[in-house]
Amino acid sequence: MTDEVRRLAGAAWAFRARVEREASSRFLRLAEAIPSFDPGSPVIGLLRRAAADEDRHAALCADLAAAYGGPAGGTPVDACVAPPGFGARDAVLYEMVAACCITETESVATLATLLTAAAEPRVRSVVHEIARDEVVHGRMGWAHLAREAAVRDVSFLSPWIPAMLEGTVEAGIFSAGGPDSEPDELLRHGVLPSWRKREVFVGTLEEVVFPGLDELGVAAAPARAWLTERLAGGASRRAVL
Ligand SMILES: [Fe+2]
Ligand SMILES: [Fe+2]
Repeated sequence: MTDEVRRLAGAAWAFRARVEREASSRFLRLAEAIPSFDPGSPVIGLLRRAAADEDRHAALCADLAAAYGGPAGGTPVDACVAPPGFGARDAVLYEMVAACCITETESVATLATLLTAAAEPRVRSVVHEIARDEVVHGRMGWAHLAREAAVRDVSFLSPWIPAMLEGTVEAGIFSAGGPDSEPDELLRHGVLPSWRKREVFVGTLEEVVFPGLDELGVAAAPARAWLTERLAGGASRRAVL
């Protein structure tokens, strides 16, 4: 393994450790908030369990980061990501869609892609354990959105989906080069090259996230337009490089 691969893998796992810790506090905060408007929701218990899962994931990722000589993960920041001016119930819905329907669903697809690659055994077992839980975490978001959609109009979220996507994705994946642009060896250590991240991100939106939102009353048209624009912008930047 080259020093560069070791450095990139260490940084990627340290970053993941921090994201897992942030997810843990976000899920606990959301579990506290839901009972005020939907005390019978099964999502409350699922969120508490998910917070414990994320703590476990954070420890697994931090161990791997340390094994690659990576930095400590830094301080997790858990702030409500809903726009200011949203009422408490709308803010919970915004965060559940952003964190679960989008982020967790994308995470499952990323981890599944890593599992198809020839990963190091230690990386593989961590990815496998995390992937199993993230599937359930994604479902919590869809379950919450479905409960809300059954009792009230959720279409107000539609124009906000592009902002959620902006907050989820690394801008660089759209301008990154093709298969020959990055060392394949990173895959063995659990890091997807940017062009693969783009492929996974786009495929998951088109196959899972957009149809799911449309079905539950959050029109995905603005998000589809956002994606088309990003892909066109990225393609033209790639062409001039
Ligand atoms: Fe996780
Ligand atoms: Fe998760």
